[in-house]
Amino acid sequence: MSDTASPAVIRRADYAQPAFLIDSVALEFDLVPERTIVKNTMRLRRNPDGAPGARLELMGEALELVSVALNGVPHAEHRAHEHGLTVENLPDAFELTIVSACQPAENTTLSGLYVSSGNFFTQCEAEGFRRITYFLDRPDVMAIYTVTLRADKAAYPVLLSNGNLVEEGELPDGRHFAKWEDPFKKPSYLFALVAGKLVAIEERIRSGSGKEKLLQVWVEPHDLDKTRHAMDSLINSIRWDEARFGLELDLDRFMIVAVSDFNMGAMENKGLNIFNTKYVLANPETATDTDFANVEAVVGHEYFHNWTGNRITCRDWFQLSLKEGLTVFRDQEFSADMQGGDTDEAARAVKRIEDVRALRQFQFAEDAGPMAHPVRPESYVEINNFYTMTVYEKGAEVVRMYQTLFGRDGFRRGMDLYFKRHDGQAVTCDDFRLALADANGRDLTQFERWYSQAGTPRVSVRTAYDSAQRRYAVTLTQHYGDCAPAARETQTGPLLIPFALGLIGRDGRDVPLRLEGETQAAGTTRVLELTEAEQTFTFVDVAEAPLPSLLRNFSAPVVVEYDYTNDELAFLLAHDSDPFNRWEAGQRLATRELLALTARAAASEPLSLDDSVVAAFARVLTDESLSPAFRELALILPSEAYLAEQMAESNPAAVHAARQFMRKRLATALRAEWLAVYERHTASGPYEPTPKATGHRALKNLALAYLAELDDPVDAIRLANAQYDAANNMTDRAAALAALLAAATTAGAAAAQPALDDFYRRFENEPLVIDKWFAMQAMQRGSLDRRIIDVVGKLMAHPAFTLRNPNRARSLIFSFCTHNPAQFHAEDGSGYAFWAEQVIALDALNPQVAARLARSLELWRRYTPALRERMREALERVASQVKSRDVREVVEKALA
Ligand code: ARG
Ligand code: ZN
Repeated sequence: MSDTASPAVIRRADYAQPAFLIDSVALEFDLVPERTIVKNTMRLRRNPDGAPGARLELMGEALELVSVALNGVPHAEHRAHEHGLTVENLPDAFELTIVSACQPAENTTLSGLYVSSGNFFTQCEAEGFRRITYFLDRPDVMAIYTVTLRADKAAYPVLLSNGNLVEEGELPDGRHFAKWEDPFKKPSYLFALVAGKLVAIEERIRSGSGKEKLLQVWVEPHDLDKTRHAMDSLINSIRWDEARFGLELDLDRFMIVAVSDFNMGAMENKGLNIFNTKYVLANPETATDTDFANVEAVVGHEYFHNWTGNRITCRDWFQLSLKEGLTVFRDQEFSADMQGGDTDEAARAVKRIEDVRALRQFQFAEDAGPMAHPVRPESYVEINNFYTMTVYEKGAEVVRMYQTLFGRDGFRRGMDLYFKRHDGQAVTCDDFRLALADANGRDLTQFERWYSQAGTPRVSVRTAYDSAQRRYAVTLTQHYGDCAPAARETQTGPLLIPFALGLIGRDGRDVPLRLEGETQAAGTTRVLELTEAEQTFTFVDVAEAPLPSLLRNFSAPVVVEYDYTNDELAFLLAHDSDPFNRWEAGQRLATRELLALTARAAASEPLSLDDSVVAAFARVLTDESLSPAFRELALILPSEAYLAEQMAESNPAAVHAARQFMRKRLATALRAEWLAVYERHTASGPYEPTPKATGHRALKNLALAYLAELDDPVDAIRLANAQYDAANNMTDRAAALAALLAAATTAGAAAAQPALDDFYRRFENEPLVIDKWFAMQAMQRGSLDRRIIDVVGKLMAHPAFTLRNPNRARSLIFSFCTHNPAQFHAEDGSGYAFWAEQVIALDALNPQVAARLARSLELWRRYTPALRERMREALERVASQVKSRDVREVVEKALA
């Protein structure tokens, strides 16, 4: 056990207003990597609604205090301590000037002010600002900022901060300065500065009301050829927010800056978004179609925060989903509109399917473990551990349900009221819910449970057809099943679940729907509102027993329990008019088969797959009426992680054997079809990241991946080598390399080695591509004589590997620990020992990244006994050695 007490728990119920408010802040930075001096002059006043007392408690971390002055006069009544600075004997309103120093070059946490590739960057959300200066570093303290940056001009020619540039000029000794003013009040977590050798592409556009705006994407000089897509995405985002929500860019200038060392995806600092290079840089040679889509989504996400997050922010960090859930929902809708406009449902469904797949694989897993928490958590030890799939993705589903209940127009009315009431404020999830309720004349009291209850709800469905009465009854029962204790304790009652449903006739067509009590049929999809533990909905005038299409478009983040037969699933896969459910039918079919195969594999019984299942997939593969993008999604089998999660006791080796068996079976049985699809969807001509071209490449590369599964993968090796050599884009080149790595498991490592070596040499100077090179090797399948832990061990010693760069650490270590379950969960515990070593090493450098890695063992109790025991040992080893609050919260909750 650890020798120090567990770190303190922060509770939502303990929220209290700040004792003081800060109206304005003037920051002056003398930027020097080893020791940066910050002079912070604040105008403060007592908060009339805050707790009384003359003492001011400012937060501060890893700072060296230089001086304190009150109204310009040195003030001795202060005390610096481990968590900040206490200042006593203060009047009701005053000016406080604090000078302090920090050490950006030493800062490996990437929180606060740090140096990356010789340039200065900041990351303040959630609590990084206190590592820059002493402050009331909490989101409900909003102030006007003026920032002066001073630095050596040759080393740091570009000096950026939030808002507008109001002054710049020369200083003695080769230094220069820039002064920035942000006209909007903001919380400290939205502060940012950037200084260094950067270049930008620029565009000037006019916003909806005709005002001119300067847009810039700043990068290191060698990356300028990878900025066009981010700029286009930014312009599209600006247009989209105007059109869909009537929200206009409120600043004259909007900047995006790329940094290669970054803990997360990107950050919405007011007017100065800072991005992980992974979500900005893209050109056809270096970025895949997925990368292009991610850049568009993240640029949109951060831009949309300007209203949902910045203009209206969070009162406290328990309300994080107020901005994140809403902004993820907005970026999902933006991406869907960019795919299919707002009318092409099949194209929009592609985005929906991808989002739901991620939700079910990662958020449902989170909800089933010791870190389970509601969308609005009740407590935390380290807030950085709560930037989670639940807060983001389940939070987005909760926001989506308002739109499902009220329609797009009703949702827009709610958003308009939200801005009318709260612009410029720091508010709560309740305030958002009330705005949506009031704008639509609805009581949404019950809906609050979506914010307060953890765990994945389940809806069991029973149906009964009465042919004499021509009635069809659908009974829905909601429950949480057998869920994790962490989730169980938050559950108080039934949810309001919008349950979209359609009925399909024997001819494959939708039946017009008429509920009991209605005078005529209307529409073919109904959103039923399930509010009780159990409710029955009766449809009348139903001529024949229909097949139900349940939870269309995934209208609520729940698990649907209904016993379809395989034939019924094959029928839905062929006919459902709801594209999401069409895909879902195939996934249900595959999941059922794979879980049966897994059970046999675990018992060392022979494996076999029914021809009817193969036939159902063959129909999708050859159905030219379906878009290639949809076919690709429908033909990917559920992931090993998702399958393992569906088992009473996860057995990664058996899951892997089962899934590989089915892949091989589909490859073998449909070999000619895969080859034909490969040929047909191979396009020539210049690369375009359009939805259509992307779909063709995806299907073609899936065909290649299946062909690589054959016992004799000679076709795959031939096609992959040719594709690798001829590729004019990273999607095709990376897919070819991945196919060669897969084929190498049967054909021998030599099959992939030349391409692997070429790939490295070709992209040696492109760190994001080298990340792919590490990741592909870490995720490859093992074989009896080749364990991937050994490959990973060798790569850890590669000169291009470093733990200090989060993208690189993720590409090798996380890829292995979280995306190669069969190898990671090796029976000898070698994966877990490696994991423990890396968590401990990262903990000393970067607790946020270490804590993310620590989470890959949190579901340990759900595995087979032998694995469980070895996982516990590894967790205990980590618990006894790590120091950070971040990792300790994760491992202590896992072991509790
Ligand atoms: N607000 C950022 C976003 O767009 C995420 C920043 C999280 N950073 C952190 N260190 N927890 O989602
Ligand atoms: Zn966000």
